[in-house]
Amino acid sequence: MYYPDELVEEVRMKNDIVDVISGYVRLQKKGANHFGLCPFHNEKSPSFSVSGGKQMYYCFGCGAGGNVFTFIMNYENYTFGEAVKMLADRAGVNLPEVEYSEEMRKKEGHRSRLLEVNKEAAKYFYYQLRSKQGEAGYRYLAGRALSKETMQKFGLGFANVSGSDLVQYLRSKGYADELIQEAGLAGFNEKYGMHDKFWNRVMFPIQDINHRVIGFGGRVMGDGKPKYLNSPETMIFDKSRNLYGLNFARTARQNHVILCEGYMDVIAMHQAGFGQAVASLGTSFTSGQANLLKRYAKEVLLAYDSDGAGVKAALRAIGILKETGLGGKVINMEPYKDPDEFIKNLGTEAFQERLAQAENSFFFEIRMMEREYDLKDPESKTAFHREIARKLCCFSEEVERENYVQAVAERYHIGADNLRKLVVSYAAQTGLVSPVVRPKSGLASKKNTPEENQKKSQRLLITWITEEPGIYQKIAKYITPEDFTEELYRKVADRLFEGLSRGEYNPAAIISMFADEEEQREAAALFNTKLTELSTKQEREKALHDIVYTVKKNSYEYYSKRIGADVNAVNQVIAGKKALEELSKTHISLDE
Ligand code: UTP
Ligand code: MN
Repeated sequence: MYYPDELVEEVRMKNDIVDVISGYVRLQKKGANHFGLCPFHNEKSPSFSVSGGKQMYYCFGCGAGGNVFTFIMNYENYTFGEAVKMLADRAGVNLPEVEYSEEMRKKEGHRSRLLEVNKEAAKYFYYQLRSKQGEAGYRYLAGRALSKETMQKFGLGFANVSGSDLVQYLRSKGYADELIQEAGLAGFNEKYGMHDKFWNRVMFPIQDINHRVIGFGGRVMGDGKPKYLNSPETMIFDKSRNLYGLNFARTARQNHVILCEGYMDVIAMHQAGFGQAVASLGTSFTSGQANLLKRYAKEVLLAYDSDGAGVKAALRAIGILKETGLGGKVINMEPYKDPDEFIKNLGTEAFQERLAQAENSFFFEIRMMEREYDLKDPESKTAFHREIARKLCCFSEEVERENYVQAVAERYHIGADNLRKLVVSYAAQTGLVSPVVRPKSGLASKKNTPEENQKKSQRLLITWITEEPGIYQKIAKYITPEDFTEELYRKVADRLFEGLSRGEYNPAAIISMFADEEEQREAAALFNTKLTELSTKQEREKALHDIVYTVKKNSYEYYSKRIGADVNAVNQVIAGKKALEELSKTHISLDE
């Protein structure tokens, strides 16, 4: 999937970034930029900016940024090649068909190869289930009331009893043992050599939001242990950032999703017509998953098991949903254990009713808490009321808190005034009210180290040049790409200056130089450092002079330390000294 640079550039230019991102994020024009709520972290006021001029986006809250390709890669979880393909289709650009030669296969990124080997394994399991060797698996799944269509939709498969047939199959398709092991499809030991990890199990391929297989869960067909065996985390399988069933649920077009505990629950729900059901992946629900859900829904309805462990997991999930700013409700599954059993016994309509009656998560929490107290005992009852008051302090908005005070008071027969007093005294003790959760921002955590300050001036200079390409001519005699002491900055400056010296201005194209998302993000930060608003020309000229001087001085000091280690250093030091002397006598004018 290697496309020539010119073609990549053409695709980029034909996809205006404001247009593309508007399809995902609600943007509002403010000055030269568009702003919206960042889709990559949880925030309440917009710090996500999209610049039509620069054809880049940048989030001042979490530091996410890049060009239109970076956005699609991050949002859709695509590789660079896939992002190019999608945007080419969008703009009607024809891409050449690429033949997969052995050579190309080698060049392809590691991610793609892991995806390929998983896909191949999924195909193998799929055909096994539908062949003679897979009869037991098919019988098991049919016995659990899954239709042929459902099995097909979820790509269910079977790992048969033979010990290394998958390994042999994958080898025959040209995959190396190391890759097969890395994908978690096989293990190695002295006695058996390479052997299949999944053995005599029905197989649930786990897909990302784009239907690509990233791992597997395999279930025993009876009571053996472990009940489910899962693929390990790999470069493509991050269990905290994917959800089972989300590839279908994302297009279910409901304003809520149903979060279940198990693979079988999701499948049963989809079969019954609840296409908005998802489940976590054999691990507990994470904030990464909550953020992912937030893109598709406002509210999450929990359909967890009704046993003790399920309640505990639900309470944990409610906390995470709150932190993420998602509404949460709990579906009552009684008298059945989980959604799969509920549907099997009572059917779709009964479940639909339960959905409508789902309990507000706060009342659920209180109701579960109540079980731990003996309300006939005044002491215990008081303790219960205190706990309620403590929980009520979590509502930082007064109106909301008051509404809950009234509702809870009524429900549990507590005098509303008494409860209010209790809340106030609690709040006073703990310093009302729960602290505002700030998103963890990569930028905010950076200390003001000298090194960080140096990098900052280099970033400021690049941002300024991209906002006002005209100043390049004025500083070109003092600053060269070598003055950027950070390697990535130097690469960017090199390309940017080279273009500008020919009168070309194209910052977004520079981002595509970097294949790695992390680098793209850092490059985007370079073009989006916050410049202080300076009103007068004098102030601006002084600020520019200071930045240029600081960058040059850093560079001078940097190369001075490297004399002897770097053949280039002496020349840089001599040139640097001269430029600094000249700069200290010169005024940089911003006049045209
Ligand atoms: P459950 O034990 O509730 O299983 O585990 P289930 O999904 O209802 O499956 P059935 O109906 O018994 O066939 C819920 C989820 O926890 C993970 C799996 O993701 C499972 O779907 N799990 C459970 C494991 O990863 N390993 C296990 O051994 C058990
Ligand atoms: Mn179950």
